[in-house]
Amino acid sequence: MQATLTDIPLAGPLAAYRGLEDAPLAARIEAVRRRMGRRLVILGHHYQQDGVIAHADLQGDSYQLSKSAAEREACEAIVFCGVHFMAETADILANRPEQVAARAGRRVTVVLPDLAAGCSMADMAAIEQVEDAWADLGSVVDTADITPVTYINSAASLKAFCGRHGGIVCTSSNAEAVLKWAFARRRRVLFFPDQHLGRNTARRMGIPLGEMCVWNPHEPTLGGNSASQVQGSRVILWQGHCSVHAMFRPEHVDACRQAQPGVKILVHPECSMEVVDKADLVGSTSFILKQVEQAPAGTQWAIGTELHLVKRLEKNHPEQQIRFLSPVMCMCATMYRIDLAHLCWSLEHLEAGQPVNTIEVDAETAKWAVTALERMLAVS
Ligand code: 13P
Ligand code: SF4
Repeated sequence: MQATLTDIPLAGPLAAYRGLEDAPLAARIEAVRRRMGRRLVILGHHYQQDGVIAHADLQGDSYQLSKSAAEREACEAIVFCGVHFMAETADILANRPEQVAARAGRRVTVVLPDLAAGCSMADMAAIEQVEDAWADLGSVVDTADITPVTYINSAASLKAFCGRHGGIVCTSSNAEAVLKWAFARRRRVLFFPDQHLGRNTARRMGIPLGEMCVWNPHEPTLGGNSASQVQGSRVILWQGHCSVHAMFRPEHVDACRQAQPGVKILVHPECSMEVVDKADLVGSTSFILKQVEQAPAGTQWAIGTELHLVKRLEKNHPEQQIRFLSPVMCMCATMYRIDLAHLCWSLEHLEAGQPVNTIEVDAETAKWAVTALERMLAVS
């Protein structure tokens, strides 16, 4: 039997919320939003499920959400419906020392409704591995000539590494501008953790594949490269990837084109180079949304990115023909962990003054991470 609203106390254990139907959970979430007003900001990434997005103050891509967190100076709390690195970034940007001082020492509380909402790609680069790689690179090239660039999909410690070493953060929407910034300063780039975003962006800028090498952090020396391979590389790509976007294959593009001549293939740059090369349009989640929103009725699309975003586009644009690029449904299982039960549970605890699942990056890491993040915000 389903629990009813009166069966559980406010700010009860998570298990009690899990027994509730969506409608009472949604009503309670909205009630907290009404009572907290401008003190609360809920941010939602485009990959979140519809039920969660319905409660977000802002839906966006990684860049827009981090920018929004940086600008939310007045709010008391940010509840981030996304994954762990996004909440960390929000904490770093919303709690820059000068802002905390201006608020008389008060920090913005940042909450990730389910702490298990991580990112498998971010987990492919650990700070110890990056430190080791840097030292190893130093044995064959001058590291003063390398800009470390981390995709925002990475732990705060990696962003701090970039801050400390004259590096920068990028997102999928500004990777090219960030690489231009990097090459204007130094000869080489170490790009982590997503090899595909790094390769796709560098190629778009005219850097040939022969001037890139892939760094496997599990290889004992030079990431599995020879000294001359590293010395001949302008871009050193960390061997990481997104398990969701890895499911889109070039043969899916061929099959879509064969089944639907005239279809436009629209993909995220976390897809492999082979898929990107066959696509018509490539860009961040917001770019994908914009292309569909601006297209004339009757446009046919096959879209290569996370399932919830594609399904929402399909629902919101019945005037267009939208299909998923892969025959296999690929969804980001960690994003999906944020559901109405976790959102309601975390909001009611927050309002009751007993916040759960708070994300607070330590001051030393935050100090250097913000340096790399601010460089990015200044570039794009
Ligand atoms: P963007 O929203 O920046 O395009 O990134 C997609 C993604 O994978 C987020 O984890
Ligand atoms: Fe990470 Fe991929 Fe999920 Fe984005 S879609 S959060 S890169 S696992």
